[in-house]
Amino acid sequence: MSPKPIHVLNGPNLNLLGVREPEVYGRDTLADIEAACRARASAHGRDLVFRQSNHEGELIDWLHEARENAALVLFNPGAYTHTSVALRDAVAAIAIPVIEIHLSNPAAREAFRHVSHVAPVAKGVIAGFGAHSYILAIDAAAVLLTAAERPGS
Ligand code: DQA
Repeated sequence: MSPKPIHVLNGPNLNLLGVREPEVYGRDTLADIEAACRARASAHGRDLVFRQSNHEGELIDWLHEARENAALVLFNPGAYTHTSVALRDAVAAIAIPVIEIHLSNPAAREAFRHVSHVAPVAKGVIAGFGAHSYILAIDAAAVLLTAAERPGS
């Protein structure tokens, strides 16, 4: 049986990357980020599922689906990071690790971005490196999964 894929889930407004506040989020589109993630995951011998939704409920459904179908989730919840108890509960409900990702560093921005409801139930958080946050997260995922697959772990 081949190993389960890494699921990369992206929340609201991330479909507009490239044109949306490029001074904050950079000029890479979500398609550029997806291509870079696929290349990095494949260098680690991992398959990838990459999705984006502007709808909280759809993100919850995808987290539930990941529970059975993914080895690990990389999650950029967008603004829902700061507002959604429901997404926090969905992350807490699934047994697999979830790594929170942000392009920007929310801690260095407006006060309303300083709270993450997801971070306390995430395995870890990678933020502030632009599109490279995703690549760092793929590397972190590969390290975690390789450790978990080691015999006796
Ligand atoms: C973001 C940070 C959030 O505060 C913001 O609402 C986003 C993008 C990021 O990747 O930097 O939509 O998640």
